Amino acid sequence: MHQKENIVELISVVKGKLTKKCLPDFLAVEATAPARAFHKTLPEYSETPLANLKNLAKELGVKGIYVKDESKRFGLNAFKALGASYAISKIAAKEDDPSKAVYVTATDGNHGRGVAWAAKKLGARSEVFMPIGSKECRAEAIRSIGDAKVKITDMNYDDAVRFASDYAKKNGYHFVQDTGSTDYMEIPNDISQGYTTMAFEAIEQLEGYGVDKPSHMFLQAGVGSMAGGVLGFLANYYKANPPVTTVTEPWDVACIYESMKSGEEGPTFIGGCPETIMAGLNCGEPNPFTWPILRDFASFAAKCGDEVTRVGMRTLANPIGDDPVVVSGESGAVGLGLVYMICADPAYAKYKEIIGLDENSEILIFSTEGDTDPEGYKEIVYGK
Ligand SMILES: Cc1ncc(COP(=O)(O)O)c(C=O)c1O
Repeated sequence: MHQKENIVELISVVKGKLTKKCLPDFLAVEATAPARAFHKTLPEYSETPLANLKNLAKELGVKGIYVKDESKRFGLNAFKALGASYAISKIAAKEDDPSKAVYVTATDGNHGRGVAWAAKKLGARSEVFMPIGSKECRAEAIRSIGDAKVKITDMNYDDAVRFASDYAKKNGYHFVQDTGSTDYMEIPNDISQGYTTMAFEAIEQLEGYGVDKPSHMFLQAGVGSMAGGVLGFLANYYKANPPVTTVTEPWDVACIYESMKSGEEGPTFIGGCPETIMAGLNCGEPNPFTWPILRDFASFAAKCGDEVTRVGMRTLANPIGDDPVVVSGESGAVGLGLVYMICADPAYAKYKEIIGLDENSEILIFSTEGDTDPEGYKEIVYGK
């Protein structure tokens, strides 16, 4: 258990001697339009809701809190298939017979489910490797998609990625990974482009609520492909002036936080086998293609103990008045938990001030998964 004062820690991003801000072209509105167009061709596609938590905003003394509910994405309980489906559609377009291909990946759950789902739609096979400590229910959720072969390995996430890459190479299979390395860029960038669909939907939905631009955004990170993809897209959309963005991560595996803290141009890695209930965020090596976006366009990084996401899950499950319920899992709720704690708990008031949250703030948060570990969800939210 962490000491209370260690439950949440925030730092400013060190930017001083770093490179000048360069907008990522691959995340420009035009560059990402094909991903949105592709998603719209899928029969399961519909916009996910943007929950307007107006009563919570009032209680916390801010103008608005808007939560994108990705538990409703494609019936898969998480946002991840936005990336996998788009990347696999591009690979399949180059195959003579897409049903003969095999897609390989490493995953802590949601990405693997997206790969299995997208492969199955093409009549193709998938093989999925999971890190040590992965819960059997998450492996079973991937198997339940159809033809996926799933194995829980004895490696941490980053080693499982390297293992899956070698395995795919040896067998002539397609490696579809949601993080990159020096010689592997195209597919992870396609995946980040795929994630921007939810950001595009969110800004259109915000306009429907009369919000021209959110003042603040909270993005959780594992390797940072989602956070970097969304932030890079919004940096392009808002002409290099995105919302004030805080990247949120688990306490013991906060590789973006440590990278920002280091002040170095390149990312910092965290090794070993750290434990956290935020399974989707348990990654120690930032994606090298989205790290520079977070370095240059995020304003803060926060490392959060597991209790922060528990607070977020319970708050979203028990809305005030007529605010809608959002079913949010461990890797989905940490941003809301952080906002709640720094606004409601005087012990963290200094962070509220540092980030600049006040009665004019309109906050955008992505709840990126539902109850992907149903037993864990029940225990945390209902105490059973
Ligand atoms: C629910 C959920 N949210 C957020 C993330 C983080 O995404 P990334 O690894 O791109 O930072 C993941 C990754 O698996 C996830 O499953």
